[in-house]
Amino acid sequence: METVINIGYLVAAVLFILGIKGMTKPKTAVRGNQMSATGMLVAIIAALLDHNVVSYEYIIIGVLIGGTIGAFIAKKVAMTDMPELVAALNGIGGGASLLVASANYLESQKLAEMGQFVPTYDWSIAVILSILIGAVTLTGSFIAVGKLKGKIGDAKQVRLFKWIVKLSLAALLAGAAYFAAVDPVNSDLLIAGLIVLCLVLGICLVMPIGGADMPVVVALLNSYSGLAGAAAGFVLGNNGLIITGSLVGASGIILTSIMCKAMNRSLTNVLFGGSMSESSGVSRSENDAFYEGKVKFSSADELAMLLDGAQNVVFVPGYGLAVAQAQHATRELAGMLEKQGAKVKYAIHPVAGRMPGHMNVLLAEAEVPYDQLVEMDAINPEFSQTDVAIVLGANDVVNPAAAEDPNSPIFGMPILDVHHAKTVVVVKRGLSPGFAGIPNELFIRDNSLMVAGDAKKVLQDTISALKDL
Ligand code: TAP
Repeated sequence: METVINIGYLVAAVLFILGIKGMTKPKTAVRGNQMSATGMLVAIIAALLDHNVVSYEYIIIGVLIGGTIGAFIAKKVAMTDMPELVAALNGIGGGASLLVASANYLESQKLAEMGQFVPTYDWSIAVILSILIGAVTLTGSFIAVGKLKGKIGDAKQVRLFKWIVKLSLAALLAGAAYFAAVDPVNSDLLIAGLIVLCLVLGICLVMPIGGADMPVVVALLNSYSGLAGAAAGFVLGNNGLIITGSLVGASGIILTSIMCKAMNRSLTNVLFGGSMSESSGVSRSENDAFYEGKVKFSSADELAMLLDGAQNVVFVPGYGLAVAQAQHATRELAGMLEKQGAKVKYAIHPVAGRMPGHMNVLLAEAEVPYDQLVEMDAINPEFSQTDVAIVLGANDVVNPAAAEDPNSPIFGMPILDVHHAKTVVVVKRGLSPGFAGIPNELFIRDNSLMVAGDAKKVLQDTISALKDL
């Protein structure tokens, strides 16, 4: 039976890896997702056959409770709330590892008293890692949820939090070393103390990080939840959990690094640099003063006229497109332009929106052909030959200050060079800043027009106006 179970875990692991590979390209993403889901099914069946893990009654209760909550949340959650959901799921994953390892510790303690268990270094290290990383992930993730929801603001006492983090880390290292090396089965109080310390550490690590950096933190916590899971796999001797946890841990850290690169930040800067908006965000009056009398407002009718003669059009989606749910209207307008003989493309910035792949997912929902989605590096040289670039609810990812103003807090972040297009039409509701909280010089450039309004409404009006021309 053990061989069958291990083969099951191996098949699941192969399916996970193929699934992740599939998900790297829009064309194969759906198949990749299906493969991963099948892998998960195989892993669950293998775990169920592994009778030692837990009794069936508990599994059924768990499936019923977890499945019901999961199905309910999956149906209810809005696309724009996805980062919060991912963060919460990471936290729950971390919490699960914490509980599994704690339960195993208590059980092993009993067995050791009866002389049926002798702790090894491997076991001690796996237990302590699972408990510690799990606890940090649990509280860190829920602070991230609070910050993403705007319920927890950016912390003012950044220095205090950093000191608590340093002291906690030192205490943790000493405690963990004592546990692993000196007395791994009679350390109830020590373990309880370490858990509390890690719960505090999770809070203090995430509190000083700015709201704008939260998606990066979520990716990092995702990696932590994988590592905690892998450690729990070692505790239980479960190969499936070890492999899956390692995959999550590795992919989470790769994603974190990709996001940091796309924002031109180092991970240390994100984690210990304090809040970005705290240092960079401008006040409302400063923002208004920046634009005063300099923005050329236009209308949907004018946009339709502009598009009527355009040969090359690039749509530049951002977070506002997701808020407005304007993906279908965008696709419809693009279709009309193509019928008129225009060439249409969509420029995709790696951190447009609020989560990795946000724009790809949105546009895929509206069945935009994959070959029209062009990544930043490939589309940038094309903007100089673009007649009209339509910026739909994007802001930071098209801010020229990132390339031109060394004093800008986003200086160095790669951007979409829409300002090189012959005409740029910015569609957004007003002059509010984007996630970084800073004004955008693009909106006052000579070749720039703004159509103020909800992206979906403006696009629908443009479609009607184009029909009437
Ligand atoms: P943002 O810079 O956040 O700007 C979005 C704009 O959309 C806002 O200025 C807002 O202006 C507009 N908007 C909101 N609702 C709208 C609606 N219904 N219709 C039209 N416009 C609407 O977005 P972006 O350019 O996509 O940049 C993403 C930001 O998030 C970057 O700073 C990036 O670093 C950060 N970030 C992203 C990620 C990932 S993985 N995607 C991770 C970490 C950080 P109005 O209110 O005036 O309409």
